[in-house]
Amino acid sequence: MKNYITHDDWCIIEEGFHEANNEISESLMSLGNGRMGQRGNFEEHYSGKTLLGNYVAGVYFPDKTRVGWWKNGYPNYFAKVLNACNWVGIDVKIGEETLDLNKCLIQQFTRTLNMKEGTLDRKVTLTLPGGGAIQLHSTRFCSMADDRGAAIRYSITLLDFDEIVTITPYLDGNIRNRDSNYEETFWNELHRETSFSEGHLILETKPNPYGVEQFQVATGMRFNIRINDLATDYQSLPIRNEKYVGGAVTLDLRAGQEMTLYKYAVNLAATDGDTDKLLESAKTYLDRITGKGFSQMLAEHQAAWARKWEFNDIVIEGDKAAQQGIRFNIFHLQQTYTGEDETLNIGPKGFTGEKYGGSTYWDTEAYCIPFYLSTAESGVARNLLIYRYKHLQKAIENAQKLGFTGGAALYPMVTMNGEECHNEWEITFEEIHRNGAIAFAIYDYTRYTGDESYVSQYGIEVLIAISRFWKQRVNWSTQKGKYVMLGVTGPNEYENNVNNNWYTNYIAVWTLKYTLEVINNLWEKDSARLNDVIFKTNFDLNGEMGDWRHIIDHMYFPYDDAKRVFLQQQGFLDKHLMTVEDITPERPINQNWSWDRILRSCFIKQADVLQGIYLFEEDFQQDEIRRNFDFYEPMTVHESSLSPCVHAILAAGLGLKEKAYEMYLRTARLDLDDYNNDTEDGLHITSMAGTWMSVVKGFAGQRVRQGLLSLKPYLPEQWSRYSFRIGFRGSLLSVEVTQNTVEVHNISQQDLTLMVGDERIFVAGGASETVSL
Ligand code: BGC
Repeated sequence: MKNYITHDDWCIIEEGFHEANNEISESLMSLGNGRMGQRGNFEEHYSGKTLLGNYVAGVYFPDKTRVGWWKNGYPNYFAKVLNACNWVGIDVKIGEETLDLNKCLIQQFTRTLNMKEGTLDRKVTLTLPGGGAIQLHSTRFCSMADDRGAAIRYSITLLDFDEIVTITPYLDGNIRNRDSNYEETFWNELHRETSFSEGHLILETKPNPYGVEQFQVATGMRFNIRINDLATDYQSLPIRNEKYVGGAVTLDLRAGQEMTLYKYAVNLAATDGDTDKLLESAKTYLDRITGKGFSQMLAEHQAAWARKWEFNDIVIEGDKAAQQGIRFNIFHLQQTYTGEDETLNIGPKGFTGEKYGGSTYWDTEAYCIPFYLSTAESGVARNLLIYRYKHLQKAIENAQKLGFTGGAALYPMVTMNGEECHNEWEITFEEIHRNGAIAFAIYDYTRYTGDESYVSQYGIEVLIAISRFWKQRVNWSTQKGKYVMLGVTGPNEYENNVNNNWYTNYIAVWTLKYTLEVINNLWEKDSARLNDVIFKTNFDLNGEMGDWRHIIDHMYFPYDDAKRVFLQQQGFLDKHLMTVEDITPERPINQNWSWDRILRSCFIKQADVLQGIYLFEEDFQQDEIRRNFDFYEPMTVHESSLSPCVHAILAAGLGLKEKAYEMYLRTARLDLDDYNNDTEDGLHITSMAGTWMSVVKGFAGQRVRQGLLSLKPYLPEQWSRYSFRIGFRGSLLSVEVTQNTVEVHNISQQDLTLMVGDERIFVAGGASETVSL
C-alpha cells in the first residue's frame, strides 16, 4: 500500500519525484484514446527504474507458447499487445551532458495527470550534475478528437547560465516487450526517412509460423521550435539508425530564455503490407494535425473529453479520496475503449502495461459491458458484442480442437483474434464459465437497451453455438439421475478440476433457457429470420431444443440442506472451513502459500457462487442471498481485483452498508494506492468497471426491471452527497443522492418513466423530480 499521490478532485498528482515508485507513477499517468496509448514515461532519457510503454490498439504478436509440460490442445502462441515505437522520445544535451533526471539534483517536481482534460503535465526544476539550474515543462496528450494523432509541448529554460543545447526529437523502434517468452524482439523495419523537421518509421511485426497476420505500423513525427514563444531560425541534423530516426537541433540558449519544442506524432496501423500507401496516409495525417497546431488540437481534445464527462461523471462530496478514485477509474476506462472499432476490445491492463498480453478476457462481458451500456452510446457496447460474433467461427474451431462437434462453440479464455491463447490446462480447458458470460452479455445488452435487433441478427447464432457446447459438456449421471458437469474451474481459480461448480452449472442452464426464449420470440416475431438461422446453423429445431429442455429440467446443483446454501462445488463442505480473519498475516495467500495448500483450503480467490447470485439476482429470495453471502464472504480473500465489487453490490442490496463500503474501497483506489503491490505492471482496467458498478449498481441500486430503469439509492455514511450520470434508452439522467432525497434530472429532451425505490416516476425531458428516501 502506497500513499504518495496527492488527493485532488480532477488530477492525479505526484508532488516531488518518487523515484522508487516511478514505474507505478508511469502506470497511473498513462494516456490513451482507444487507438493508442502509452505509459507516463519521461520524454528525455532516463537511466533509472522505468518501463517504457507505447501501444497501438489491435496490434499484437503471436509469441511462441512457453510451458513446462505440453498438453494436447494447448495453443501454439500467446498473442501479446506489442510495445510499439516510442514516439514521445526527446533527447536533450546541455553542453556535453545528456539530460537524465536520474543524475540530477531535483529541486522541484510535479507530474500531473489531468483527468478532466486528458493531459499529462510535468514541471521540474533541477540542478545538473556539473552545476547549473534548469526548468523543464512538458504537456502531452493522445488526441481524442484525432485518434491517430498526439502532441507534446516540451520547454526548457536554463535558469542561471548560457549554454549550447541540443535537442533531438526522435522515433525509436528498438524496443522489446518485457514479457517476451524467449527474449525475442518482435519488429522488423520496412522503411525509415527523415528530413528537416520530420521523421517516419514503418515497422512490421516479424513473420510467424501460425498464419497470424503481420501488422505494419507507420509512426511519423513533425516538430518545430520556438524561443520565448517566437519563431526562430534553426538547423536540424537528420539522424538515421536502424529502426530509429531523429532530428538534432542545436541552439545557443541564454539564461532565462525558454526554448519550446512542439512535437506532433501519428500512429497508423495496417495489415495489407502497402508501405507506400501507409506512408502517404501518415504524412497526410501529420499535415492535418500540424495544420491545426498544438493549441487547436488541444482545444478539440479537451472538448472531446468534456463531452465524455458530460455522459459519465460521478461526483462524490465529503470524501476527496473517493472522488479522485472514481474519476480515475472512469477516465481510464474511457480512454482504453471508445467503441468506434468492433475489432478492438479491452485488455485487463489496457494501454498501461504488458501483463495479460493486452488480450480479451471474460472481464469484458461480465464487468465492462454494464459500464459502457450506461455511460456511452449503445453502439459502444454493441460493438463489444459484435467482436465476439465475429469470432464465432474461431470459437467453433476452438471447440472442435477439444473434441466438440456439430457447431458447438467454446470461446477462448484469452484472445486477440478469436483463437485461444491461454495455456494452463486448468484454465484453458476447464474455466469454461466464460462461455456463459458471453451469452449473458447478449441478454444484458438487450435488457438495458431494449434493442432486440442485435439478438435476432447476430446474438442468436452465438447463443445456439454456446448452448450446443453446454449440451455436449454435461453428461448424464445414472447414480444421481441428473446431468452433471465434471472437471471444471469456476471463477474462483483457487479450485481446479472440480465437479459441478454451482456457478458454471447455473449459467449453463440459464444459457439454454435464454436461447430457447430467444428462438421462441423470433418464431413469433420474424419466422423468416429464424428459418435463415436454422438453415445457416443446421439446427435441428425439435431435437436440439428437446435435449436442452431435458437438461434444464434435470441439472444437478450442489446444495446443502442443513446450511441451506448452494455449494461452490460438490464436496465443498469436506474442507476445513475457516474465515479470512483466521489467516490475516498470511495474506495474500497466493504469495505466501504453496499452490497445493491453496487448492485444498476453503479460501476463495473471487466471487463464485456469489458471482452467480449477483448475475441472476432475480431468481433468489433476499434471505437466500443473505445466507449465501454470510457463508461465502468470510472465506473470500478477494485476490482478484474483479471480486470485491460483486460483494459490494450484493452487500448494498442486503442493506449491509458497512460491508458494501469496505468492499467498494478495495476497488476504488486499488491502483492509486497500489493495494496489491502490482500497479507497476499496469492498471486493473477491467476491474475499474467494477468500481463504477459498486457505486451505480451498489449504492444507487441501479437495475432494469420489466423494461424500466430502476434505482434504489442510499447515501454511504462517509459521503455527504453523490451524483452520477447515466444514459438509458435515449435519455440522459443526472441522479443526485443526499441523505434524505434523490433528485433525478433528465438532461436530455426525451421523457423517461423510471422506478425510484417503489415509486414509479415520470421525468419529462429537461425536467427534474425529487423523491424522498
Ligand atoms: C482472474 C480472472 C480474470 C483475469 C484477468 C484473473 O486473476 O481470476 O477471472 O479474467 O485475472 O483479469
